[in-house]
Amino acid sequence: MMPGMNLGLSLLLHVVGVVLWMGSLMAMSRALVLLAKRPGPGRPVLAELAGRLNIMALLGLVLTVGSGLYQLMLWPAGVFKNTRWMHHKLTAVIAVVVVHVLTIRLQRKWRSLGENDALRPGPASALHGIAGLLLFAIVGLVYFSLPHFLHIPTM
Ligand code: HEM
Repeated sequence: MMPGMNLGLSLLLHVVGVVLWMGSLMAMSRALVLLAKRPGPGRPVLAELAGRLNIMALLGLVLTVGSGLYQLMLWPAGVFKNTRWMHHKLTAVIAVVVVHVLTIRLQRKWRSLGENDALRPGPASALHGIAGLLLFAIVGLVYFSLPHFLHIPTM
């Protein structure tokens, strides 16, 4: 096998996982905003769409967390406890998980409501905005922080 293949594959899965998780989570909360704003026969479809987007988001979560933990195992022994940016990043990842759980709870609650019940889009909008800010914060932490420990031999 080519040297660095496992690391390259893991980084590939990590970035694809991030796109899938964060993109689907943001699309899911956006579908819920629309569901709240537009009473009528389209509501059940939007609720179902949000549920389908959640499946993609969960797949992205599994890829991101699995590959991320593998990458951490490749770090030199002992460096984790002194790498503050990674502590901040993992704290922000926990916040994304909380946002994800709250979005799932909102989808489950709203899918059983009537087509014409009055709903406030505020909670879904807030979850959408917080997910976006966390995405910026996490990717910013990765690319504006030192030190990094993983290097693909071809780079
Ligand atoms: C439990 C969750 C996660 C763990 C354990 C984890 C761990 C890691 C590790 C160890 C690296 C390699 C760092 C290095 O260069 O030494 C990395 C890279 C990266 N992570 Fe994560 N990560 C997690 C979740 C996330 C999330 C949620 C995002 C984005 C929202 C993210 C975005 C990135 C990016 C953009 C890179 C850089 C990839 C590259 O260009 O090399 N990670 N992650």
